[in-house]
Amino acid sequence: MEAWSGPVSECDPNGPVTLRNMGRIAVLDSGGQYCHLIARKVRELGVYAEIFPVGVDPDLLREHAGIVLSGGPSSVFDEASPQPQAGLFALGKPMLGICYGHQLIARYLGGRVERGDTHEFGSATLQLRVDGVLFEGMLPEQQVWMSHGDHVARPPDGFAILAGTDECEVAAMGHEALRVYGLQFHPEVVHTHNGSTMLRNFLGNACDCAMDWQPQNRVQGLLQKIKESAGDRRVLLFLSGGVDSTVAYALVVRALGPERVEAVYVDTGFMRDRETDEIESAFRDLELGKLRVFRAADLFMGRLQGVTDPETKRAIIGQAFVDVQDQILGDDRYASQDWMLGQGTIYPDTIESGGTQAADVIKTHHNRVERIQELLVQGRVLEPLSEFYKDEVREIGRSLGLPARLLDRHPFPGPGLAIRCLCASATEGAVPDSGIAAVAEQAGYSAFLLPIRSVGVQGDSRSYAQLTVLHGGEIDFARLLPLSTAITNEFRHTNRVVACLAPQEIEPRQWGIRPATLTPERVRLLQTADRAVTDYLRGEGLYDQVWQCPVVLLPWGQGDAETVALRPVVSVDGMTASVAELPIPGLLALAHRLASIEGIHAVVYDISHKPPSTIEWE
Ligand code: XMP
Repeated sequence: MEAWSGPVSECDPNGPVTLRNMGRIAVLDSGGQYCHLIARKVRELGVYAEIFPVGVDPDLLREHAGIVLSGGPSSVFDEASPQPQAGLFALGKPMLGICYGHQLIARYLGGRVERGDTHEFGSATLQLRVDGVLFEGMLPEQQVWMSHGDHVARPPDGFAILAGTDECEVAAMGHEALRVYGLQFHPEVVHTHNGSTMLRNFLGNACDCAMDWQPQNRVQGLLQKIKESAGDRRVLLFLSGGVDSTVAYALVVRALGPERVEAVYVDTGFMRDRETDEIESAFRDLELGKLRVFRAADLFMGRLQGVTDPETKRAIIGQAFVDVQDQILGDDRYASQDWMLGQGTIYPDTIESGGTQAADVIKTHHNRVERIQELLVQGRVLEPLSEFYKDEVREIGRSLGLPARLLDRHPFPGPGLAIRCLCASATEGAVPDSGIAAVAEQAGYSAFLLPIRSVGVQGDSRSYAQLTVLHGGEIDFARLLPLSTAITNEFRHTNRVVACLAPQEIEPRQWGIRPATLTPERVRLLQTADRAVTDYLRGEGLYDQVWQCPVVLLPWGQGDAETVALRPVVSVDGMTASVAELPIPGLLALAHRLASIEGIHAVVYDISHKPPSTIEWE
């Protein structure tokens, strides 16, 4: 790539940025997972942010109050690395480059970037060198989070070095007159202690934003937009019982009145215990409108007969959803132009690049199948929440008066319990692993491997690897969690670690994995265990403290009995997650209760963070 060093004077410091409260920030995505984090932080600070690819046509950004160039996994030296259009820098907008974005600013405005010999990763102490608007109100030293290989060796002309660390001389640079800044570290992550203050300073001091945007203030505008888009038409909405489609439904009903809205809830048979009844009664109580339950359990279970491979299960479920929706949409009643389709699509679902997970394929898939694409082209799809993040959707739901019980439900994957009911095609036993056993023994536990392969994250791709089982020691998170990390870091053939809760010690040679497929009986057993776990979380006031608590059924035990794995996690958006450390006495009592359910023999606790393990096992 040739560095573009267009004349800096084309950036007009007295240009449109002086207009206060133009209100919108553009976050330019260079790949990786950080752009949604930045956009969410900016919105939390009260400024509306939207994401564009870094190569966006600069003309589309003329009305924005400022631009953030996000980090990304590429090196500016790679031929194929994402690049902005040169005209971006001639817009005269306040700009903040983060990590890769910082290096792009340096290169495009005539500075010098050098390849790093090593990768700097982790916390560093930032020392402020000169005063400036970005670090206003901050102490001379700050803890920041670094993750980079290349670095800026010389800022462009006119830029000052604002701050440095021991390892990185140009950790922050800025041109106060142009209001263009670059940070080598990541202000959007919690490990940068004053990152929010830096972003607030950029938005308030450099972009002159009013910082008064709030999702709930948009409700009136959304209702108006729904009325305009719908005109005289009626709306059909697919409801999952989750927060997004529930809030979308409530908005559409509020805008058009219940008589013009119909909701269809597809019962796949893989819902939680009594879930369909609870959703029906919750919606009846809210008097929102007509809710039709489409019972498709036989269809889903029928197609999954004898299937054991996780990816095949997911593909079959995805296709069954598509077929059911297609069948409903093909109904003569809805086929006419008098109807449009409403969907609870939210912002991350609409952004194709950066941070889009393989896990979301099914969801994205059934929001964008062929028939729905046709409706989109005809202007017959209504997606009132497509600009919002999940926490903002909850705020909108609260301001519509929806009950917390509906809004604060844990996320539940589209394929439901089908991906939490593990299957196996052959009889297999525990696999001794002397390397893992030796590491575990140092921490006071026994360990072996199970050939149950679950999904993990390695770099940007998903992996399937074996399960490590720890037993024979005390349940003590302070020892177990570092041990889990040490094992998955050192041994790449395992990506998930569990600790035995009940019984706490086992004789692995007497336990086996047995062939198992999806059957109504196994799903029913999982529903019973899942119900007991949800009741425990709600009863102990823990439900709102965890992001999600998948309960997983494993065909592993003595004889026909199965094992239940608990997977409580703490997370912000599901992209990364930490093990939730539930109080041990209550946990052991719960494990005891679960192990006394007929058909369940043992209970284990998943002690793996994401990464290296995904939240769901399949
Ligand atoms: P993973 O397992 O990738 O999950 O760590 C992250 C979040 O996504 C949810 N998830 C899904 N949601 N359809 C969905 O609607 C799916 O196929 C799906 N797979 C995973 C998961 O429950 C967690 O909240």
